[in-house]
Amino acid sequence: MTAPSVFVAAEAAPPQPGSPDVRLATPEDDQFVEALQALAFGPGRFARTAFRVRERFPIDPSLSLIAEVNGIACGSVWMTPISVGGLDGYLLGPLATHPNFRKRGAGKLLAREVTRLALERGEGGFVLLVGDRDYYCPLGWVPTELGAIEFPGPVDPARVLVYSADPTMAARLSGPIKAFGAGKRS
Ligand SMILES: CC(C)(COP(=O)(O)OP(=O)(O)OC[C@H]1O[C@@H](n2cnc3c(N)ncnc32)[C@H](O)[C@@H]1OP(=O)(O)O)[C@@H](O)C(=O)NCCC(=O)NCCS
Repeated sequence: MTAPSVFVAAEAAPPQPGSPDVRLATPEDDQFVEALQALAFGPGRFARTAFRVRERFPIDPSLSLIAEVNGIACGSVWMTPISVGGLDGYLLGPLATHPNFRKRGAGKLLAREVTRLALERGEGGFVLLVGDRDYYCPLGWVPTELGAIEFPGPVDPARVLVYSADPTMAARLSGPIKAFGAGKRS
């Protein structure tokens, strides 16, 4: 049975109070995630540079999370394993919360939780993203060296942010985005 999402439940149950929880996504969430990304980013989402990264390197479904309020799916985040300059890590995104459920902490919970899950595997050392400093820097993301990381399309270098337990990571990341493990194989 398809899990309830805001798209099927919102009209019957208009925005309710409640705090968000997160859980792993399942294939039954695919329709909800597609509709949410379409709503949050519009048709231009396929032209976004981050989308091009995900076209080349698949997302990790075991790092795909759903936010729920009162059991209703209302937010989503994906993670793509990548490497930069021989260092393995992850690209976070897209992150989106349905407009009816914003400002309850779902977005930050999703970003924090997917980052914790990814890094605690001990296989990748950073979580990169392209996003607003005002949103992500209070969560621990820091700016990278301007223009050092090469994306397969245009990005605003000031929005390329990284989270890592290693305080030298932001200065060390340099070069094109490649597949996870690319550095070890070369
Ligand atoms: C950005 C987004 C995921 C935030 O989701 P959310 O569940 O409302 O996030 P949270 O509840 O954790 O945080 C909300 C807070 O962040 C602020 N915020 C939201 N977007 C922000 C941004 N781009 N820059 C700075 N602050 C932002 C809100 O004003 C709010 O502030 P408050 O707590 O002082 O009221 C959601 O607005 C969204 O889906 N936007 C469209 C898609 C998008 O831009 N995704 C991010 C791409 S990297």
